[in-house]
Order: sequence, then structure tokens, then C-alpha cells
Amino acid sequence: MVDMRQSFFELVLNAMMRMIAGKRYYGETDADSEEAKRFREIQVETFTLSNTPNLGDFIPIMKWIGPKRTEKRLTELHMKRDGFMQNLIEEHRKTLAIDDSSETQGRKKNMIEVLLSLQKTEPEYYKDEMIRALMLVLLLAGTDSSVNTMEWALSLLLNHPKALQKAQAEIDNIMGQNRLINESYLAHLPYIRGIISETLRMYPPGPLLMPHESSQDCTVGGYWVPGGTMLFVNLWAMQNDPKTWVDPGEFKPERFGSCEGMRDGFRFMPFGTGRRGCPGEGLAMSIVGLALGSLIQCFEWEKIGEEMVDMKERSGLNFTKDQPLYAKCRLRPSMVKVISEI
Ligand code: HEM
Repeated sequence: MVDMRQSFFELVLNAMMRMIAGKRYYGETDADSEEAKRFREIQVETFTLSNTPNLGDFIPIMKWIGPKRTEKRLTELHMKRDGFMQNLIEEHRKTLAIDDSSETQGRKKNMIEVLLSLQKTEPEYYKDEMIRALMLVLLLAGTDSSVNTMEWALSLLLNHPKALQKAQAEIDNIMGQNRLINESYLAHLPYIRGIISETLRMYPPGPLLMPHESSQDCTVGGYWVPGGTMLFVNLWAMQNDPKTWVDPGEFKPERFGSCEGMRDGFRFMPFGTGRRGCPGEGLAMSIVGLALGSLIQCFEWEKIGEEMVDMKERSGLNFTKDQPLYAKCRLRPSMVKVISEI
């Protein structure tokens, strides 16, 4: 029996840190260093705090009368995180001073190395502060959202075993039994992409998008909106509106089959849209697609009991499953050879 939320977190954080710094902080061989422990502590605190909305951000009067505790904890956490990131930058700076040729050693540069190289040619723009900010963006905006999507998707599949079978058959058909799924095959797996889109339609990680602000007075749908107003878009309502979706409460991955994206009329936009739309959409679709695809390809999945997986969500600004998903899995005999060769 596996705690899927924890496993998805570890997977996504490892993937992000490998991109950022070429390091893994979770897993049997990488978990023991002091650095890894510190990173994990910071992440636990980050996700605890990110599930505690700061009312003062949304109800201005609370800024003056409300408790300042969350803000204080956020500031302290930020200092800790910044210190950790700066140490990573210094470590890479030292290594690059000795040898700036990681690419010639047969590996690609990680994000810190790329940004430190750019710092040499454009020091005014690529300051350490900018590098730390970019590292944080990947960790903060990219982790929770991807983990939530994976957890909801697998929960839906456990409650819909026929869809799970169909997904497995699609992968077996395209990949055979001697190759593990990789990024380049995702384009050939429409049903898997349909599962991810349908999950993002029913359980969008940002159900109200990010708060936006009107830059000037305007009228929208007959409503006058003064400039400087904080605006939320009720994305969940749009993506589950019975006027524009057939059986919106039903999980039907095939509805995305013929009409990729279905962005027309803004019916479906789990990554937002326009200038402030999510810049991580491509990365997110790859990470979620690969994780889900490999799990479906390599294992048989089952609920832990007879009853359906509980799909209740936790109240808050992001769409998190209330209870973490636990699931039973068994390696598929046909995949033993491929897995043993990894
Ligand atoms: C399934 C995964 C993801 C979903 C559903 C998602 C969704 C969103 C949404 C709805 C927004 C707000 C858009 C708006 O208000 O118009 C957003 C913003 C953003 N996302 Fe994502 N995201 C995901 C993964 C990622 C990843 C992997 C990264 C980076 C590596 C990322 C980076 C960002 C950033 C930086 C913003 C702010 C953009 C801005 O304000 O200009 N996201 N995302």
C-alpha cells in the first residue's frame, strides 16, 4: 500500500531539484545528508503555510485588525529558503570557477549553471536575487499544482477501472513490452492526455486562477468594475457548467479526444490564459503525463478497500484532495525486464 501524495511530492521535488541544481533530496540513496534534511524541512513548512490563506491578502480590513502570525511565519520561512538557495548558488559558483565545461563532460548544464554563465555576460540582469527567484518559481508554482493533478487523476482512475484498463491498453499498444514510456510518446497517447485534461477540468489546481487586478475602469458582462479591483475568475464553474458541458459531473476522458484543448470560448483553461497564463504548462503536461503513464504502464492498481476513493476536496484557494490517496499496486510481470534494466 503506497501513500501516493507523499510519493508524488518526492517525485516532483526531485525532478525540479535535478533541473535546478542537479540534485535529489528524496529516495534511498539521497536522503541522508544534512542538506537533504534541511530542504525537506523547508518544503514541509512551505506546503503547510501555503494551505493557510492569509485573509489580509483578500479582505483589506483584516490587514489592519487581523493576526500578523501568518505573515511573520512566511517572512521567516522566506529568509530560510533564500539562505538555502544562496548556498546552492555559491556551491555552483565555486565549481564553475574551477571548471566551466560541464557540457563537455557529457552532461547538460543545470539551471543554476546556465544562469551563472549568463551572469558573466549580463551581470545587471542575472543577479543572484533573480536566480533565487527563478528557483523559487519552479518549486512554488510547479510542485503543488502538478502533485494535485497526479493525485486526482489516479483517484479518478481507481474509481473508474474501465478507464484505467483502456489507458493501459493504449500504452501497451504503442509501447509494446520492451520499452518504458518516454516524453516523445506522449503525443501518441490521446487517451492518457484526455485523462489529464478531464482531471484538470473537474479538479483544476487553481479553481479561481490567480488574483488579477483591473488596470482601469471597465464594464464586463454589464457589471462596472472600477480600476484597481482584485478579480477572481471562477474557473471551476466555467469548466463544470452544464450549459456548456454534457454531464459535467461525469469523468469522461474521451470528450477531449477529437477537440484537443477545447480552448474556444474559454470553456477550458486550467492554465489560465493570456499574458499572465501559466508559463509552466508544457513542463507540467510532460511531468504529469510521464509520471501517470509510467505508473499505468508498469503496475496494476487497486483501491485499498471495497469502497470508492473519497473525492472530497479540502476548503481553500487551491483544489487539494482532503484525504491523501493510498493505493495498492503490483508490478506487472510483463514489465519486470524493462524495470530491471533502468
Ligand atoms: C498541472 C500543473 C499546473 C497547473 C494546473 C497550473 C496552473 C496555473 C494557473 C491557473 C495559473 C494562473 C494563471 C492566471 O491567473 O491566468 C498559473 C500561474 C503560474 N504558473 Fe502554473 N500551473 C501548473 C504547473 C506549473 C509549473 C510546472 C510551473 C513552473 C515550472 C508553473 C509556473 C507558473 C507561474 C510562474 C505562474 C505565474 C504566471 C504569472 O503570474 O505571470 N506552473 N499556473
